[in-house]
Amino acid sequence: MPCGPRLLRLPRHFLTGAELSADELRDLLDLAAARKARPLASSALERRSVALIFQAPSTRTRVSFEAGIVELGGHPMVLRPDDLQLSRGESLRDTAHVLSRHAAAIGIRTGPHETAEELAAHATVPVINMLTALHHPCQALADLITLREEFGSLEGLKVAYVGDGNNVARSLGILGAMAGIQLRVASPAGYSLEQLQGVTLTDDPRAAAEGADALYTDVWVSMSDDPASAQERRRALSPYRLDEALLELAAPHAIALHCLPAHPGDEISAEVLYGARQRIWEQAENRRHAQKALLELLLA
Ligand code: CP
Ligand code: NVA
Repeated sequence: MPCGPRLLRLPRHFLTGAELSADELRDLLDLAAARKARPLASSALERRSVALIFQAPSTRTRVSFEAGIVELGGHPMVLRPDDLQLSRGESLRDTAHVLSRHAAAIGIRTGPHETAEELAAHATVPVINMLTALHHPCQALADLITLREEFGSLEGLKVAYVGDGNNVARSLGILGAMAGIQLRVASPAGYSLEQLQGVTLTDDPRAAAEGADALYTDVWVSMSDDPASAQERRRALSPYRLDEALLELAAPHAIALHCLPAHPGDEISAEVLYGARQRIWEQAENRRHAQKALLELLLA
C-alpha cells in the first residue's frame, strides 16, 4: 500500500502565517477572543491527538499548546528529540507519514525552517510552525490578540519593534501587515530584517518609537544564533533596549510587548517588564487562545 497522501484534500499548514487570507486572520482573532471568554466552549479536538515535536527548548509554546489542546478535548503528544527515531536517522518524510496516521495535526519547533517545510511537504495533516530560525507565526497571532484587546482595532496601529530583525520581528511583520498594522523595525546594521511589505525599516530606535502605540522587543541572542556571537550581538544591540526613556517617546497610551523569555537589563529594562504599561504576561497567556483558534481553523 502506498504511504503517500490518503486524502484528496490537501492539509492546511501554518508555517509563516502568509497561508492565511486577511479575512481568515480576522476570523481567527475573533474566534480566539471567543475562546478566551469561554475556554471550554469547544470540543473541536475531542478524542483526537496532536503531535508536538520540540527540537528546541520552550516554556510558553509547550505549555500553551498542551493546555489548549486539552481544553479542546484533545490529547497533546509531546515529542522531544530523543523520543523519535528521527534522532537515529529516520527521515522527516517517513516521520511525517507515520505521525499523519495518528495525529490530527503536527506542531514542530526546530532550527532550520526547511525542516518544518519538509515535514509539511510529506504530512497529510496540518503542520504548525511552533518556531523556526526564520518564523514564529504563533507568537504573532498572540501579539495581534493582545494589541486588539488593548486598542479595539488593529487597522492603522503604529507598532515599533526595536532590536534584532529575527523570527519574531519577521512574523510580526507578515501577520501585522495583513491586519493593517504599521510596523516600524529598528535594528543596527547587520541585524536588520529584510524589506517586507508594509514594514518600515530604520536603524534609529528613537525615531521608530516616536508616537508609537506599542513598543516591542525580543532577545538579542536567539536559540538558532551561534553562542559565540553573543558578545558582539550584545554590543551592537545594546542601544536598542526597551526602557522607560524609549517608552517616553511613544504615545502616552503606549504599551510594551515582549514575546519572552526576557533578559531584564539587556533588551528590556526590569521597570518596563514589570511596570504598569506592559501587557507582556497577557501576551503570554494569549498564546493559548490564539493556538486553539488556529487548530480549529486548520482542522475545520
Ligand atoms: N515566546 C515563546 O515562544 O516562548 P517559548 O520559547 O518559551 O516557547
Ligand atoms: N527569537 C527568539 C524567540 C524565542 C521565543 C528565539 O528564536 O530564540
